[in-house]
Amino acid sequence: ADSATECSYEECKATADWLLAQAPVRPLLGIVCGSGLGGLAEMLKDQLFINYSDIPSFPQSTVPGHAGKLVFGTLKGKPCVCMQGRFHLYEGYPIQKTTMPMRVFKLMGVKTVILTNAAGGLNPDFKVGDIMVIKDHINIPGFAGNNPLVGRNDDRFGERFPCMSDAYDRDLQQLAHTVAAELDYSSFMQEGVYSAVGGPSFETVAESKMLHFLGVDAVGMSTVHEVIVARHCGMRVVALSLITNQVVMDYDSEKKANHEEVLQTGELRAQPMEKLVSTMVSRMQLS
Ligand code: 6GU
Repeated sequence: ADSATECSYEECKATADWLLAQAPVRPLLGIVCGSGLGGLAEMLKDQLFINYSDIPSFPQSTVPGHAGKLVFGTLKGKPCVCMQGRFHLYEGYPIQKTTMPMRVFKLMGVKTVILTNAAGGLNPDFKVGDIMVIKDHINIPGFAGNNPLVGRNDDRFGERFPCMSDAYDRDLQQLAHTVAAELDYSSFMQEGVYSAVGGPSFETVAESKMLHFLGVDAVGMSTVHEVIVARHCGMRVVALSLITNQVVMDYDSEKKANHEEVLQTGELRAQPMEKLVSTMVSRMQLS
């Protein structure tokens, strides 16, 4: 298929309609669970799980730690759809396909998206287990033309040249910090700039130093492409990184980045992340 038409309006609409025909709720909120953070989806009431493999035109999850299910239900009484497992550039799909769920969310009526991810900490003040509220991003693949909006623009989704200077909703960032303070999480809350790299290889020491020098606080392989597509079609976005490991920035370090550590920290710290997200949801004005 032509990569520019991989994620057409008609294709996304057909998928959205197929999902809505069986969904127990019409979702206003979309949630994306990062590596090891799929437990969030289990918090929904009146759940309906749908395997990605059963959804027309949907990509499939290929990564351990990503279940590959869409979950509908209510969280704190709010109608939600939750991705238990997301799609990454490195899985080899056309980049437009990796963000198809954002457009399907939009066409199902979702107004606000909460994205979570596991990330490596570059900021020396960050500790493993910290939660970073993302305030901005640097899209490294985008510099080389790997932007999910590459291809013919469909104005029904959004404009050709969408603004990204306000990608991360200020009020929702504030809500995250306010709720975290109330939950007594302030000691492990951070804010900062997230950078996505293409992956799947982790960063070299020189690459990590470069990202740190550029002002990046945490690095991962996701989220940014979803944020771009979500903002393009006018959804509000808030994104949280769980710092699962400290990025190696010194040649003498014995430490090595690995996916097991990412998943283990995810499991260890999933609970505060889930509590933070669900409490934020209880406070959100959706419509
Ligand atoms: Cl160290 N790097 C990248 N690119 N993604 C990660 C990570 C590191 N830790 C968790 N996710």
